[in-house]
Amino acid sequence: MIKKCLFPVAGYGTRFLPATKSMPKEMLPVVNKPLVQYGVEEAIEAGMNTISFVTGRGKRSIADHFDISYELEHQIAGTSKEVYLGSIRNVLEQGVFTMVRQREMKGLGHAILTGEPLIGSEPFGVVLSDDLCLNEDGPGVLAQMAELYSQFRCSIVAIQEVPMEEAHKYGVIKAEELKDGLYRVDDMVEKPPQGEAPSNLAIIGRYILTPDIFDIIRATPPGKNGEVQITDALLTQAKKGCVMAYKFKGRRFDCGSVTGFVEATNYVFENVYADPA
Ligand code: G1P
Repeated sequence: MIKKCLFPVAGYGTRFLPATKSMPKEMLPVVNKPLVQYGVEEAIEAGMNTISFVTGRGKRSIADHFDISYELEHQIAGTSKEVYLGSIRNVLEQGVFTMVRQREMKGLGHAILTGEPLIGSEPFGVVLSDDLCLNEDGPGVLAQMAELYSQFRCSIVAIQEVPMEEAHKYGVIKAEELKDGLYRVDDMVEKPPQGEAPSNLAIIGRYILTPDIFDIIRATPPGKNGEVQITDALLTQAKKGCVMAYKFKGRRFDCGSVTGFVEATNYVFENVYADPA
């Protein structure tokens, strides 16, 4: 039912400098696959075959990754090395890729609004590829959320319990639990100061948004750090009673931090990666 997924990929990746000086952080490989490809595979698995990138300067290699590399294809055609192209060929067969450039970095809300021409007026997924989400025991996080959307027809944020002292790094919700792992959001705040978080339920980088969010973002003034925050726009929807939060099944690695990235690499190498040859 949800056909499109937006990937804001214009950010600088300062925490990974110097690696990200001339290379997008989304192209950093976890074992043998760029971070962004994990997110794209998760979206396609959820039936969201139109992948829309909100990209920026210096991010061309993302567009190139989701295209044929003619010379490479030609060189290795018919050799034993072709198996290594298997996963990206699958993605290219199933996905349609659209892009728009975000010229100025004015926050996640602004990045999502920049994607409006690619989305139009339908509900859509959002993936922050920094957050690598894996669920080997069943459907991926976006597929879980798409299923919920078909029941509730509201915006949905994925959440995770975090230690209270970590809550200031996230958007944090205050919510009423409707049933196991499913909440109706009453309040939400972007990166609350230490000790002021309304709960330990942190938003992670998976959203399903209803298209009225675009007009709401347009009317949302800059918030935390002077940026237009998606959390603030979602709060406007929540006040109308239509934002759900979902404690997803699976694991999430914060690949925007060096520690999380190393954890993800170890985990994928030990539990997920299989040499295709
Ligand atoms: C963004 C959102 C924040 C959310 C986080 C999840 O923050 O603004 O609400 O909790 O992603 O990763 P960022 O990490 O981009 O600063």
